Amino acid sequence: MKKKLSIAIDGPAAAGKSTVAKIVAEKLSYIYIDTGAMYRALTYKAIVNRINLEEEAPLLDTLLSSDIKLLPSDKGQLVYLDNQDITDEIRSAEVTNSVSYVAKHQAVREEMVRRQQAFAIGGGVVMDGRDIGTHVLPGAEVKVFLLASVDERAVRRHNENIQKGFSSDLDKLKMEIARRDKIDSEREIAPLKKAEDAIEINTTSLTIPNVVEKIMVLVQERIGLD
Ligand code: CDP
Ligand code: CDP
Repeated sequence: MKKKLSIAIDGPAAAGKSTVAKIVAEKLSYIYIDTGAMYRALTYKAIVNRINLEEEAPLLDTLLSSDIKLLPSDKGQLVYLDNQDITDEIRSAEVTNSVSYVAKHQAVREEMVRRQQAFAIGGGVVMDGRDIGTHVLPGAEVKVFLLASVDERAVRRHNENIQKGFSSDLDKLKMEIARRDKIDSEREIAPLKKAEDAIEINTTSLTIPNVVEKIMVLVQERIGLD
């Protein structure tokens, strides 16, 4: 039987991580874990409960008492918080613009990493985020770091908003993405960073199938080694 690998996909906002991670997971019949959705779920709950996002202790307490589930479905991955479907709520502008503040706290990250590592026991997982290759799954057999210019990433989010029928301001999106990248890359604990042994793919002028193909080649090479 073929060995079940762990695949880590990291990179900045809108680099295409979740889109390609989902397709790669489907092709391999692996599970897909969107770690950003976990930070978003906690952020959503903290906002609803009016918790100060600068304070670690109440955020950790909130997380410890939260049941966050990621469930595959025909419509994509569903996110449940304490048995409530919050898949759409966690993509709101308010959550998006607050999540990087929540993700700065060490105790919060430690608990998130503990849960993420538990999902990956036994392999057969594609996990995307910011610190998967560096901290969550440092032993992952395939590590990919996806990049794209800020302009391209803002256009991708803008097109997504328009497709969904939401209003969208391209310049504002560009600013928000750049600001989130900065906070995520400059934080002290597990910043957004390419793992030394990760393969960097600049997706700026690549299509989704192009990127999937490149990752599948890495996977096949790795399976061939075992
Ligand atoms: O989908 P998008 O790239 O916009 O973001 P996301 O993957 O949903 O992640 C939302 C935020 O969660 C990021 O901007 C980070 O602040 C945080 N995050 C993190 O710190 N570590 C991870 N492994 C995943 C996300
Ligand atoms: O997960 P992350 O925030 O890194 O990005 P995503 O949500 O997977 O992708 C953001 C948007 O870019 C989606 O609408 C994708 O369809 C699109 N995309 C693209 O146009 N070209 C790529 N090579 C990858 C993603």
